[in-house]
Amino acid sequence: MTKYLLVSDLDDTFLGDRRALERFADFYEPIRERLDIVYASGRFYESIRRDIDTTPLPEPVAVIGGVGSEIRQYPSGRLDQAWIDRIATNWSAKKVQSVLANESQLELQPADSQSDYKVSYFFRDAKPTQLDRLKAKLFDHGLDVSVVYSSSRDLDFLPEGVNKGTAAAFLARQFGFDGDHTMVAGNSGNDSKLFDHDFRGVIVANAHDELKAYAGDARVYLSSQERADGVRDGVAHWMKLADVAGRRS
Ligand code: GLC
Repeated sequence: MTKYLLVSDLDDTFLGDRRALERFADFYEPIRERLDIVYASGRFYESIRRDIDTTPLPEPVAVIGGVGSEIRQYPSGRLDQAWIDRIATNWSAKKVQSVLANESQLELQPADSQSDYKVSYFFRDAKPTQLDRLKAKLFDHGLDVSVVYSSSRDLDFLPEGVNKGTAAAFLARQFGFDGDHTMVAGNSGNDSKLFDHDFRGVIVANAHDELKAYAGDARVYLSSQERADGVRDGVAHWMKLADVAGRRS
């Protein structure tokens, strides 16, 4: 039996249309032995677990939270310490906040969006040059950061090299899936790094242009369907399955 891994974003990719999610759950039930799922979100574990408890979202094998800055097993919630050890160099969340304290265009996101390995702000319509300047300022203060900008609003600072893509690659290797058997799915900027690896990509129809820019690649499937319907369509495409739910709808 050929097994696959799906690493997928949640908000506006899997989530956002309950009926579509129900259709995904129906589609997934008969193939669950052949497909492991990992959720990769900008949010953290507890918030994601609440979604799993209160919606038809299938149970994942692990959760990537905070835009790649933490990996936890599911359902135990156990933190992957090897990932933390790998990422925690030249980085201090406190120092990032203090260096950026005088940047008046930045508005700190709520406390539950922050962690020791992720500092997030709102910054509307930021230009790439403005983001480069912030990164350079942090570098001048001895901090190596990765900057992730999404939805023309959300600005995340993470330890250098940390993003959903590197976290997904770390997990895929740990679980023994190669690129041909690892699918990634998303809709916005913080998902784009998932598409930098040799995985099979799925972009949902409601994706932001910042992500649709990846759609020309032969390893990326742009679905004509939105949210969980798009994920289902993409998984059926890459696993070469007849999409029963898709035919019905
Ligand atoms: C989620 C997180 C937020 C982050 C955004 C983009 O909404 O809660 O902190 O900025 O994803 O990565």
